[in-house]
Amino acid sequence: MNPKARELVSIHGKPVAVRGLTKAYGAVKAVDDVTLEVNAGEFVALLGPSGSGKTTILMTIAGFETPDIGTIEVGGRDITALPAGKREIGMVFQRYALFPHMTVAENIAFPLKMRKIGGRDAAAQVEAALAMVRLEGYGGRRIGQLSGGQQQRVALARAMVYQPPLLLMDEPLGALDKNLREEMQLEIKRLQKKLGATVVYVTHDQGEALTMANRIAVMSDGRIQQFATPMEIYDRPANLFVAGFVGETNLIDGELARDGAAWRFRLAGSADTVALEGQDAVDGWRDGMRAKLMVRPELVRVGPIRDGAPSGLVEELIYSGGTVVCMVRLPSGAMATARIAAADAAGVTVGDTVGLEWPADRVRVFAA
Ligand SMILES: Nc1ncnc2c1ncn2[C@@H]1O[C@H](COP(=O)(O)OP(=O)(O)OP(=O)(O)O)[C@@H](O)[C@H]1O
Ligand SMILES: [Mg+2]
Repeated sequence: MNPKARELVSIHGKPVAVRGLTKAYGAVKAVDDVTLEVNAGEFVALLGPSGSGKTTILMTIAGFETPDIGTIEVGGRDITALPAGKREIGMVFQRYALFPHMTVAENIAFPLKMRKIGGRDAAAQVEAALAMVRLEGYGGRRIGQLSGGQQQRVALARAMVYQPPLLLMDEPLGALDKNLREEMQLEIKRLQKKLGATVVYVTHDQGEALTMANRIAVMSDGRIQQFATPMEIYDRPANLFVAGFVGETNLIDGELARDGAAWRFRLAGSADTVALEGQDAVDGWRDGMRAKLMVRPELVRVGPIRDGAPSGLVEELIYSGGTVVCMVRLPSGAMATARIAAADAAGVTVGDTVGLEWPADRVRVFAA
């Protein structure tokens, strides 16, 4: 990139605050009392299943939807009543939404034109934006002459060309194939870090959220279920929904068992129990209460049978690179998954009865 271009494109991200946002369409509460505070220069992912309200939040921040209740602040300023065109927000949509009859350069210049920036200034800014997304020399092309990945880069350049302090992206990579999607994830992340932009990024792909975001807001039914770093979300999901939605996991049925001042978990269909350590939500727990124990497959170890400890029948071993996925039938009839090192799987055979172990402080228990 030429030095001039570097000067032209630097974004100073501003903090964003959504407060008490509620938005209904008829009887459907698309967003239900959502509060979300994003720091300047932070990359936040809104992650959730279809219909959970992600796009509605983004559209409200952008000003294309009006809240029923609640406010939107950018840079500490309340912009709830400001028209979309007056908000300094760059937007990237799933289907690019480029103008097919315009050239690449004209597409990128469009937001500048809307802001009455033209001539040499605009041309330099467009050039800088093209360089930023590694499309130097493509300005004269028509949109139809570009690949999907290149079109998405143009959409990114168009969103960033006027250096908005806030970028909103709604499933921007949804139309791309897997390889290109992963390449573009890194590209977007690189740009966001370099420019210092604040990004709110919608996705229903948990892998994408885990790799890209500083923090993830996990959504379901118009509500934020948890807002935390990828590591916290993965290791300490706040509830069953988050536990099941993010990452591979075992959710083992059973019940709580009091053990003096401590708690144990008894697996369904057996007398086997495991210790529980470092659990927060013990308020309201009662002896014998039904619960689910969450343990990630990579934490489960397969070994010799021990008295009173969980065990099961190995039904399947699936080799995948350096690890082996070991499927074990528990006494309850449910299947548990252990992801173990290939070396540890050497002594395990389908049909074996094996003991299962995991670190007591790395599991989560959710009482029913
Ligand atoms: N313009 C609209 N009119 C009526 N209902 C709407 C409208 N926009 C959204 N909804 C409803 O609001 C809810 C939330 O929709 P939203 O588009 O925000 O979900 P989403 O999380 O973005 O889903 P997806 O992953 O499928 O894009 C859904 O039940 C949807 O049907
Ligand atoms: Mg959506």
